[in-house]
Amino acid sequence: MKVLLTEDQLRKGIAQMAEKLRQHYAGRPLTVIGVMIGSIVLLADLVRLLDIPLRVELILARCCRGANRPGPLVVNFDLLSSDVRDRDVLLVDDIFDTGNTIWELIPQLDELGPASVRTAVLLRKQGRCQVPVQPDFVAFDIPDAFVVGYGLDYRDMYRNLPYIAALEPHEMSGEIG
Ligand code: IMP
Ligand code: MG
Repeated sequence: MKVLLTEDQLRKGIAQMAEKLRQHYAGRPLTVIGVMIGSIVLLADLVRLLDIPLRVELILARCCRGANRPGPLVVNFDLLSSDVRDRDVLLVDDIFDTGNTIWELIPQLDELGPASVRTAVLLRKQGRCQVPVQPDFVAFDIPDAFVVGYGLDYRDMYRNLPYIAALEPHEMSGEIG
């Protein structure tokens, strides 16, 4: 595996994104919603840098997809414990790859009547987007490689790495996910 972003680089990029978010949301009723499971490490670091009043919530989005084969996205809002009506919602995810996850989540969140829905991601993969939206806040643009660490997994492993690394082809056995 090849390290793409070191702990130090991650810390700096996330601090810059947090500063933009702080300026954007200062004085507004903010609910930060992490998309499980991949976002949990980013979520924990990000909210500690946002010194503004906010609520933290989680939803679960899982897609059963292969390397190049999109599968159905299973979304579960059951963990959402507070009302987001008339609040600004910031959806936090680990990576914007094809964009299908965010594309499907935004209208579902819109149905809950929030004042706004915006998205923040740690990583955006180049040249993969299949939807007509982009994330509003991006910490890092990365090349088209399969990456793990800092919350991102390959077959439920590597989420605990403190850095982001690209897996080499021989480290992946066929289907991803
Ligand atoms: P999208 O819906 O294609 O944008 O993909 C978003 C989801 O796919 C992410 O939240 C990840 O769970 C997963 N994913 C996409 N690319 C990678 C990767 O390189 N490593 C690990 N997970 C990934
Ligand atoms: Mg995910």
